[in-house]
Amino acid sequence: MNVDKGFVEAEIPAGTDLKKEIERLKKEQDAVVLAHYYQKGEIQDVADYIGDSLALARIAATLPNKVIVLCGVHFMGETAKILCPDKVVIVPDVNAGCSLADSCPADEFARFVADHPGHTVISYVNTSAAVKALTDIVVTSGNARKIVESLPKDEKIIFGPDRNLGNYINAETGRQMVLWNGACHVHELFSPVKIAELKKEHPQAKVLVHPECPAPVRILADKIGSTAVLLKYATESDAQEFIVATESGILHQMQKDCPQKTFIPAPPDDSTCACNDCAFMKLNTMEKLYNSLRFLAPQIEVDADIAERARRPIERMLQLS
Ligand code: 13P
Ligand code: SF4
Repeated sequence: MNVDKGFVEAEIPAGTDLKKEIERLKKEQDAVVLAHYYQKGEIQDVADYIGDSLALARIAATLPNKVIVLCGVHFMGETAKILCPDKVVIVPDVNAGCSLADSCPADEFARFVADHPGHTVISYVNTSAAVKALTDIVVTSGNARKIVESLPKDEKIIFGPDRNLGNYINAETGRQMVLWNGACHVHELFSPVKIAELKKEHPQAKVLVHPECPAPVRILADKIGSTAVLLKYATESDAQEFIVATESGILHQMQKDCPQKTFIPAPPDDSTCACNDCAFMKLNTMEKLYNSLRFLAPQIEVDADIAERARRPIERMLQLS
C-alpha cells in the first residue's frame, strides 16, 4: 500500500464488486461516506449522506461513526476534521483541491485583513483552514445572505475569497462589503450569450444559477442558490425543463429526483472544454474510495493551533444558520 501520490495505490482484484465491498467495509470500519453533489454519480449512489457544503459540515458534526470519508474536496475534509478532531477523516484523493480556495493564500489574506482594521472578516467555506483561522464567521453559499443580514447594517465587513458571491450578497443586502478578488474557474466560464441562446430554444426552461457565477450569468437566473437550494427548486417547480449553471455533478441528483424532467447543462464559453466539470471533485473515484476504506488513508490532519482558531468561525456559522 502506498499513499505517496495522495491516494492509496493498491491492487484491486479483478472482478471485485466495488459497490458491495464499499458497503461491507463501511460496516467493518465503522465508517460513514459523505458526498458532495459534484461527485461522480456512482459515488453519490454509495454515499450515506449527499449534500451541499453546509449540509456536509452540519452532518459531519453530529455523526457517531469513528471514520468519516468525505467525498468532496480538501477544504471539506478539513472542515469535518476541525469539527470532529477525534475522528479519522479521509478524502479518497487529497489532491482534490479547489481553485477558489487556492485564489486566497493565507499570508496574503492576513495582509488584506491587517489593511482593513475594524472590519469583521467573513470567509466562504471554500478556503483553507489557515484562512478560516483569520476569520470571524465562515459562510457557505447556502447561508451567506442570512448571516450577513444578521449583522448590524453599519458593520464593516471583509468578504473573501469569492468576488462573485460577495457581489451577489452586496447587491441583495445593500451592503458594501470589501471583497477579496477570487473566483472559481468552473463558475467563471459559463457563457451568458450561449445560455440566452439556449433559453430561446427552450423558452419554458427555468435557469438555475450558483452564486459563484458572475453577474452577467446571474442576471439570467430564475433561481440563484447553493447546490441544495437549486435541487430543491428543481424538485418543487412545475417547470419541466431546466438550464443548470453550476458544476455538472448536480445533474445526477436532479435527474434521479425528477426522472420525468429535463436538465440541460449550461454551456461554457469554449464548447470544446469540459469546463463545467470540476476536475478536483472528479479526482475521487470508486476505486480510490474503496482503497481508502480498506486502508483508512489518506487521512486529513490539521495543525492543532490552526484547527483551534478555525473551529470558532465554523461553529459561529453553524449557530447562525
Ligand atoms: P455549495 O455550497 O453549493 O455546496 O457549493 C460548494 C462549491 O464548491 C461550489 O462550487
Ligand atoms: Fe472549488 Fe469551483 Fe470545484 Fe467548487 S467547483 S470545489 S469552488 S473549484
